[in-house]
Amino acid sequence: MADQTNRAVGVDIGGTGIKAGIVDLDKGELVSDRVKVATPDGAKPKDVLVAVTEVLTRLGVEDASVPLGVAFPAIVKNGRTLSAANVSDKWIGFEAEKFFEDGLGRDIHFANDADVAGVAEVRYGAAKDQPGLTILTTLGTGIGSAMLYNGVLIPNSELGHVQRASAKKDAEAYAAYSAMERHSLSWSKWAKRLQWYYSHIEFLFSPDLFVVGGGVSKHADQFLPLLELKTPIVPAVHRNNAGIIGAAALSLSS
Ligand code: BGC
Repeated sequence: MADQTNRAVGVDIGGTGIKAGIVDLDKGELVSDRVKVATPDGAKPKDVLVAVTEVLTRLGVEDASVPLGVAFPAIVKNGRTLSAANVSDKWIGFEAEKFFEDGLGRDIHFANDADVAGVAEVRYGAAKDQPGLTILTTLGTGIGSAMLYNGVLIPNSELGHVQRASAKKDAEAYAAYSAMERHSLSWSKWAKRLQWYYSHIEFLFSPDLFVVGGGVSKHADQFLPLLELKTPIVPAVHRNNAGIIGAAALSLSS
């Protein structure tokens, strides 16, 4: 590889897959293949560590020569995971950053998956130079959220868990991409659920921009035009790679 000083590795741990790549931090682009393994059943810490080790080995960066950022689908405060919606309960109150640092034998930066996707879109994508409040949501196994005010991240918003009182479910159980798959919904049926969700978030926060990430954002033209909102809503420029790019971008933070 040519100049490696501006490169970092991002690992994005999700409810169904663990994805990783080497990122050029000047351009905010992947400069390696994107490698992916399935999230182990039950997503227990020791199994997830084995899977993360595997993606690093497949990328040829297991030797700590390139900085590493790891994104995880839970509240992350001071290196501890404080919630577990689509992973094992063992992560609740767990010293996750230290666990990965000890297990991988290197320093890492560890953060919430949607927050790092928000950072990627602010630095290199749809929320760049965007004034006011941007809310990025990821539609996947769950719904993740990142709130960015004038480009600054307000970490650990959990807007996938706003409650849908009439259905006694939270938003992600009703409107995540996994709900569409689980119930074999058409795009228009799913869009009705998204309409409820984004209207509710719009009413609560009056954002200036919504950015939609997650794997399904590559099909944004199938559902975003069906939504009627006052707030502009656009797909994430980095689509499903935003988590990898954002995790890598934060790898140099303490
Ligand atoms: C978790 C969030 C996460 C989101 C997307 C939710 O269930 O609570 O922390 O960002 O899923 O993975």
